[in-house]
Amino acid sequence: PGPLSIAVIGGDGIGPEVTAEALKVLLAATEAAGDPEVTTTDFQLGADHWLQTRETLSEQTLEQLRGYDAILFGAVGAAPNDTRIPSGLIERELLLKLRFSLDHAANLRPAKLYPGVPSPLADPGEIDFVVVREGTEGPYVGNGGALRTGTPQEIATEVSVNTAHGVERVVRHAFERAQQRPRRHVTLVHKHNVLVHAGHLWRRTVEQVAAEFPEVTHDYLHVDAATIFMTTDPARFDVIVTDNLFGDILTDLAAAVTGGIGLAASGNLNISGTGPSMFEPVHGSAPDIAGQQKADPTAAILSGALLLEQAGRTEAARRIEEAVHADIAERSNGSSRSTGQIGDAIAASVTG
Ligand code: NAD
Ligand code: IPM
Ligand code: MN
Repeated sequence: PGPLSIAVIGGDGIGPEVTAEALKVLLAATEAAGDPEVTTTDFQLGADHWLQTRETLSEQTLEQLRGYDAILFGAVGAAPNDTRIPSGLIERELLLKLRFSLDHAANLRPAKLYPGVPSPLADPGEIDFVVVREGTEGPYVGNGGALRTGTPQEIATEVSVNTAHGVERVVRHAFERAQQRPRRHVTLVHKHNVLVHAGHLWRRTVEQVAAEFPEVTHDYLHVDAATIFMTTDPARFDVIVTDNLFGDILTDLAAAVTGGIGLAASGNLNISGTGPSMFEPVHGSAPDIAGQQKADPTAAILSGALLLEQAGRTEAARRIEEAVHADIAERSNGSSRSTGQIGDAIAASVTG
């Protein structure tokens, strides 16, 4: 593989802490795999940066970011009691703006129960599925408004946008991914019994795309029922395709049943090849434990592995996955390690 340039956005709270460990491991793995040509550039963005400069994400910074091969993202978001920052400002104007502007159509969120990881489920079975979450549409687009705010007649709307283009490309991506997996199965999760218009578009699109993938089977679940099966029989899932909001909720649940939010990685994929993809842990800035070296950096480290895989650096990615695998298997002995100690241990074993 050729040189790889990575823009690094640590962000807020535990974001910079876990990102430092992810980078440490990523660089050790690329070195060990013998393809070390990786350059990284730090971008100071997030709540602190906004407080200092009032920039969330300027057009100029966005243009700079477009020039990198990939982005490694930590987490953003102010503490809920921080009244200096409008609620959700950094999330919408930085994180979502990046996903939308860089056309991150497919948000890939793998859910795998590694051996030795305690699941909250008594009998979890073999959990190994991926959620392909639509990344640029749905209720996330900010389409809506408020009328007669503060009066008893107040009306607030959030309109979910679903386009044929947006739905088709993410559904196709899910089927392509399923085609490469042993079980070759896609489950569409929606709520078409209530959300009739969008539901109809999603179902019709799945039927049309499925016809092109005769080896891939598919089924459908309403999102409420999907939460039942994700806790009673998560081993049934292979590839789940769903909209932006359902995917957000389902992937926190998926993280919980596979050992916790500290392990869940994700990739926001630009599948049209028009800009860099962005890799980040599923979790947020965790203000409750920020600055204490208490955060588990594993989700960020695994997001680094997804980045390398996407960049065609499969050997380095495999090294990280195996090192994480081994590290996780040893965790049950109850030793409590700092964020940095976990990163050091995994970085040391990627060379093996
Ligand atoms: P959160 O994921 O930050 O935290 C939820 C709980 O999980 C907390 O108890 C936290 O301590 C714990 N946790 C999270 N990551 C952990 C880790 N790596 N190791 C150990 N424990 C971990 O979600 P929240 O509390 O709902 O949100 C906090 C802030 O983060 C909000 O401002 C929110 O908007 C933002 N947020 C950002 C992202 C993102 O940047 N992608 C994702 C989710 C939430
Ligand atoms: C996530 C987060 C974000 C989302 C928020 C912070 C905008 O919860 O990455 O899962 O809803 O997508
Ligand atoms: Mn979320």
